[in-house]
Amino acid sequence: MTGHHKIAVLGVAKRFGETAGTSVNALSMIDLSIADGEFVSILGPSGCGKSSLLNIIAGFEESSTGRIEVDGKPISGPAPNRGVVFQEYALFPWLTVAGNIGFGPQSRGMRASKVNRIVSRYVELVSLTGFEQKYPHELSGGMRQRCALARCMANDPDIMLMDEPLAALDALTRVALQDELLRIWGEASRVRKKTVVYVTHSIDEAIFLSDRIVVMTPRPGRIQGEFVVPFPRPRLPEIRIHQDFHGLSDKIWLMLQAEAGRKSC
Ligand SMILES: Nc1ncnc2c1ncn2[C@@H]1O[C@H](COP(=O)(O)OP(=O)(O)OP(=O)(O)O)[C@@H](O)[C@H]1O
Ligand SMILES: [Mg+2]
Repeated sequence: MTGHHKIAVLGVAKRFGETAGTSVNALSMIDLSIADGEFVSILGPSGCGKSSLLNIIAGFEESSTGRIEVDGKPISGPAPNRGVVFQEYALFPWLTVAGNIGFGPQSRGMRASKVNRIVSRYVELVSLTGFEQKYPHELSGGMRQRCALARCMANDPDIMLMDEPLAALDALTRVALQDELLRIWGEASRVRKKTVVYVTHSIDEAIFLSDRIVVMTPRPGRIQGEFVVPFPRPRLPEIRIHQDFHGLSDKIWLMLQAEAGRKSC
């Protein structure tokens, strides 16, 4: 997990609609370093700018001030080495599972035989064998998100940016996919560990998945605090019921709560 900084968020602030007269201050001054291979989650109240931050790191959105560096170099837009998985619209509805997973490699000009090999590898990794020719609307929510994960990983990005990828799922599927996500991340990271920035509203999900949790304040979002998650990997499903897990969860909840309370006073 240690090593150089993979991602550096340097003095990033974001104000939307500067020219429209009705501006929204979404993010105020974020400084954050993420190590190579680290799994970092971002927690914070709705509207605090989590998605904005992720979009800026992805290169979809420009920051108003500050910059993002990846491997020490400022980014200037999206790049295939930064993959994204979002809660919705994650898949192309007009492409099959195989088509979606193969989309990235194919559009980068890879030979069909190689694309097929990549598709089979990731179909298997996310347990969608037998569903290669199905369209997204023929899949369950959990299968769709596994397919989105595979589509992201098929590009072999060194950074994965995920914005509430499991939020639309029922509680049981969600917990099962948290386990799956760690397994898939581990498998895909065999040669080189992938760095993950993961946005969620679930404190327990953040603890279960991450090496470190960053808590943001209500809008305009800034970093309120950080928690290192001390549990060793591989994370077994039953760590969720350990006392230490609940202890950490309570601490994070209190931090989120304290700030929310202040805001409403
Ligand atoms: N493209 C945009 N144009 C104008 N305002 C925007 C835009 N995107 C986000 N905002 C505003 O910026 C603020 C932060 O939004 P953002 O989506 O980043 O929050 P969030 O933390 O991801 O919220 P949630 O947890 O509900 O997903 C909100 O007030 C939102 O209305
Ligand atoms: Mg969001």
